[in-house]
Amino acid sequence: MNGPRKVYIKSYGCQMNVYDSHRMADVLAPEGYVETDRAENADLVVLNTCHIREKAVDKVYSELGRLRDMKDGAARLGRRVSIAVAGCVAQAEGKEILRREPAVDLVVGPQSYHRLPDLLRKAEREGRALDTEFPPEDKFDFLAPASREATRKRGVSAFVTIQEGCDKFCTFCVVPYTRGAEISRPVAKIVADVERLADNGVREVTLLGQNVNAYHGEGPDTQAWTIGRLLWRLADIPGIARLRYMTSHPRDVDEALIAAHRDLPALMPQLHLPVQSGSDRILAAMNRQHTARDYLDVIAKFREAQPDLSFTSDFIVGFPGESDEDFRATLRLIEAVDFTTAFTFKYSPRPGTPAADLDDQIDEDVKVDRLQKLQALIARQHERFQQSCVGRSFDVLFEKPGRLPGQITGRSPYLQPVQVMGPPSLIGHIAPVTITGNRTDAKSLFGIIAQPAVQQRSGAVAFAEAGV
Ligand code: SAH
Ligand code: SF4
Ligand code: F3S
Repeated sequence: MNGPRKVYIKSYGCQMNVYDSHRMADVLAPEGYVETDRAENADLVVLNTCHIREKAVDKVYSELGRLRDMKDGAARLGRRVSIAVAGCVAQAEGKEILRREPAVDLVVGPQSYHRLPDLLRKAEREGRALDTEFPPEDKFDFLAPASREATRKRGVSAFVTIQEGCDKFCTFCVVPYTRGAEISRPVAKIVADVERLADNGVREVTLLGQNVNAYHGEGPDTQAWTIGRLLWRLADIPGIARLRYMTSHPRDVDEALIAAHRDLPALMPQLHLPVQSGSDRILAAMNRQHTARDYLDVIAKFREAQPDLSFTSDFIVGFPGESDEDFRATLRLIEAVDFTTAFTFKYSPRPGTPAADLDDQIDEDVKVDRLQKLQALIARQHERFQQSCVGRSFDVLFEKPGRLPGQITGRSPYLQPVQVMGPPSLIGHIAPVTITGNRTDAKSLFGIIAQPAVQQRSGAVAFAEAGV
């Protein structure tokens, strides 16, 4: 053997894939794999794929083409490179991947990552391996925890999956098929994960789930806990200064979650609440099971509890049957809410989902036109929000060195990147910053570190402690 084997893992799609990629690296570490950030150096390449839109899937197949050439090149030099496909494309079309791309050695679905070492051995023995089962055991019980070094390398802000899968079956969406039925992890296991992260320097935790606020994991009292209750428990963990969660569904918002935004200082005032459309007709066809008015009412309740809350969302334009009037209703909803930003998508028909079979599919040029209009409106709202931050002071959690020498960069409570001149010793700490400028081209706010006398949120590290 000449040194440890190297694994390169590339994530596509949502944050849950980012989290899963870390778990895969952690389960491979005891097998002697170290992570590399260059595919060319790797003995094993893992693509952690996304199936949500056709484009996401196309990207995977073109990347596999490149990797095939790389693998052939390495083989000519006598070096073996293995290629694994994980994630939602693996789950949805595992066999098809093996058929279309002979260079792929291994296909593994999201519920089987704990079996990765065994699967690699199987692929080595038998040539190829495939596992897209929904196994009876809970993968979280078998996935290795991150080492201290791995956690430190990944930084001060971490993701933790608390809920996975979806039972909602929106008519456009593949997630219920690729991730399976909704399951919530028990409270004790989440607490143990977050305590371990905090011990290793993590200050901010984002709780993840496809429907994170449908969380109903078993608590230590054997009752089902809601996400509101879980957030209060996690805020008690020493070192954890900031909590976030995503992605929420408007239908699962309850009073306890709204109250947590009013009363729990560690819960950041930023909420991603996808709505997809502002037209009741389209919302019904999408099976979202709420109206535009219901959504606006939920937003109003949040704002009443916490006026400082900022909202982001997801939108789909060109869902089958969407008329100009339906689209205008979406623009009206966006005007009414005033989002700080949003993800916007052209509807992409997905095989096996009910909406893909609807007759009145929308022409591509109409989709393009609506997408542009929607993005222009969101961009105006985003710019207005960024500009409104100039002159304000808020806490920034510093994450890494900035782009220029002497700069460090962090995140505002609203998740905006903020650049300041400051010492690297502040990385991993929270300090108050006064925002002095907004650079649209740099997608960042700029600020100066404010005087230590400025208020500290509960859980924030005192300015003096950071050694400045
Ligand atoms: N669970 C989340 C969303 C998960 S998918 C929710 O309920 O909102 C992330 C986003 O991708 C969705 O919010 C939607 O805007 C978009 N999306 C999902 N399926 C899509 C499709 N077939 N075409 C275009 N966009 C889609
Ligand atoms: Fe997909 Fe709807 Fe489930 Fe979100 S709630 S993951 S959009 S089916
Ligand atoms: Fe994509 Fe799967 Fe996430 S389809 S958005 S990677 S749950």
